[in-house]
Amino acid sequence: MSQLLSSRIVVVGAGAFGRNHLRVWRELERSGAPLHLSGIVEPDPSATSALAREYGIPIYSSVRELLSSQPVPDAASVAVPTAQHADVASQLLAAGVDVLLEKPFTSTLEQADALINLAERHSRILQIGHLERFNPAVRAVLPLAHRPLFFEVHRLSIFTPRSLDIDVVLDLMIHDLDIVLSLVRSPVRELHAVGLPVLSSKVDIANVRIEFVSGCVANFTASRVSTERVRKMRFFQPHQYISVDYARQDVLCVDVAALRADAQREPSGPGASELRFHPAELRHPTPELAMRKLNLPSGEPLRLELEAFLSAVRERTAPQVSAQDGRAALAIALDILAAIQAHQARAGLA
Ligand SMILES: NC(=O)c1ccc[n+]([C@@H]2O[C@H](COP(=O)([O-])OP(=O)(O)OC[C@H]3O[C@@H](n4cnc5c(N)ncnc54)[C@H](O)[C@@H]3O)[C@@H](O)[C@H]2O)c1
Repeated sequence: MSQLLSSRIVVVGAGAFGRNHLRVWRELERSGAPLHLSGIVEPDPSATSALAREYGIPIYSSVRELLSSQPVPDAASVAVPTAQHADVASQLLAAGVDVLLEKPFTSTLEQADALINLAERHSRILQIGHLERFNPAVRAVLPLAHRPLFFEVHRLSIFTPRSLDIDVVLDLMIHDLDIVLSLVRSPVRELHAVGLPVLSSKVDIANVRIEFVSGCVANFTASRVSTERVRKMRFFQPHQYISVDYARQDVLCVDVAALRADAQREPSGPGASELRFHPAELRHPTPELAMRKLNLPSGEPLRLELEAFLSAVRERTAPQVSAQDGRAALAIALDILAAIQAHQARAGLA
């Protein structure tokens, strides 16, 4: 594709989240980004007339119909139910369309591997929709995570009847699994999990403890049956505590700056100084805490995600959240679901 031409973008699946993709693509188009929102694929006939009125672009009832039209789009945002991800994405990739595929990547690892192979064979961009990676608060902590050793993560939502085709682990917790994996960069050594259906037939609330080979331990809680909305990740590393609020997009860093005994520095040679502790200070050290809130530019993660995808499509560069990243998060999520089932069997709940 010539860099001078706009990229033709379609949205496949215009349900609750696909409409956010549509809104943001349209905003980007109007702000002069090099794209043309050229179509929507939505099989639900009750949705199509409102979509046609709002967007004024062709609406197709299936990917097959889209691909038989000319010209075929350059790229697609895919926001269909998870069970349809593999089928829809494989048709698009095989037809030469770059794909931004919503999370979770697929339902099974076999499907994920088949899509990865297909994207490679057709030299297509395949980005997975882990949009928290584009949250300015997450971007700000990435370079700060030197040696995270303990995470406490909460993602709690008030119940709405959406995404009930998947367990809360694949629906919500997978965002945090992806973020923690990107910060820890170590394989899993061991995991323990508990999870229960509450208002749906799938797991609605789950708690997981993962120990990584690096020694880092992470506790995750995800719920879609909470009375409040919480999106928080806190982690500790030597001499530092970092707290991230995904929703407010703020980051608090607390550094253990120095012991008060720092005041006892005494020169031990020309130009040199060394730290001396009084025995009393060693028995009762008084750490000084330096707290700082990072000054962050705010930004809608979905907009930043779509801009990054468009850039990968146009520049033919690797996407910032690769299919391998999506596969890694899915693999842990599936292990967690297996551990939850095993726990339910032990507890006589299966
Ligand atoms: N990144 C996030 O934070 C986030 C948030 C919510 C949902 N999601 C993901 O987005 C996807 C959609 O979720 P949702 O809540 O919008 O679901 P939804 O059920 O509201 O919408 C799905 C839409 O896809 C359409 N559809 C179904 N099969 C299709 C097909 N073969 N071709 C084209 N369209 C088809 C349906 O008619 C429906 O309109 C899921 O994968 C979900 O996990 C991601």
